[in-house]
Amino acid sequence: AIGFYPTLSSAPAADDDEQQGFDREIVIKFSHVVAENTPKGLAAQDFARRVYQKTDQRVKVEVFPNAVLYNDTDEVDALMNGNIQMIAPAFSKISQYVPAWQAFDLPYAFLTDQAVQEAFDGEIGEILFKKLKSKNMIGLSYWSNGFKQMTSARGPLIHPADFKGQQFRIMPSDVLKAQFRLFGAKAVAIPFDEVYRGLESGFVDGGENAISNIDSKKFYQVQKYMTISNHGYLGYAVLMNKEYWDKLPDDLKGLISEALKETTEWANQNAVVMNARQLQEIYDRSMMQIHIQTPEERREWMRVWEPIYEEFEGVIGKDLIDRIRQLQK
Ligand code: LMR
Repeated sequence: AIGFYPTLSSAPAADDDEQQGFDREIVIKFSHVVAENTPKGLAAQDFARRVYQKTDQRVKVEVFPNAVLYNDTDEVDALMNGNIQMIAPAFSKISQYVPAWQAFDLPYAFLTDQAVQEAFDGEIGEILFKKLKSKNMIGLSYWSNGFKQMTSARGPLIHPADFKGQQFRIMPSDVLKAQFRLFGAKAVAIPFDEVYRGLESGFVDGGENAISNIDSKKFYQVQKYMTISNHGYLGYAVLMNKEYWDKLPDDLKGLISEALKETTEWANQNAVVMNARQLQEIYDRSMMQIHIQTPEERREWMRVWEPIYEEFEGVIGKDLIDRIRQLQK
């Protein structure tokens, strides 16, 4: 475990905790799949630190990064079954269990960071969290990473036709698959911790990811071309096992929520800063050829992707799609 706190206090247990059936120290295991020096990795650590302080060391959040405990094919299962208490998966991974979560995968769903934040804070975020309850999960917060960019080893990705015949790694999501299908490409879902190998071996030619992941996992070493397309958004839902949450004493729920609110505010600003800084690092240290998509090219991609909105209306729900369209105005 990558814990912050090597030694634990042996303060006597509060009586009310014992009545609730909790040991004197509560350990919340928080598993995620990315590197530590990423928006999510740093947010998880910040949250752990705040919880420990606010609860006077009664609650310790143990953070397990880099898929050391669960990777993204089994972390949601592990959460639903209570084998782990907290995760913060990318939205696409939740869509395996609650398909409406593909709302966030719609191409160019969000054109600015501000629109993303509005979705998180508004009804879109609320509606999607409600859908988790029947799966024994509770959504506590939304964390940002950043917009996704296209990369390939085979050639520059400027126009839809450039994708033809290539195979791309995606997160599991039919919307993401449809994106590549409409561009004449193939897409295959691969867990995050196997992406580097998939790219290196040539099993896949390319992928789509946030700058922070392309940088921290060194995908730039095995990809030659990147288009700054901002065509999709990579964000996270901070989830807890619902049964576990429901059983926590109210005072701790309050303190944990407070800590998470503070972390989220900091983390979502930090994510924007980090992605910008890491893009600069990629420019400085990689050999990738980087193309910045023009507005005209964006319209070209969007024209080809437009049918996705209708195709997935039944899966995502017209209500959510309408709300996303509203944000695009
Ligand atoms: C991916 O699988 O590419 C991302 O979801 C990884 C992450 O959690 O940022």
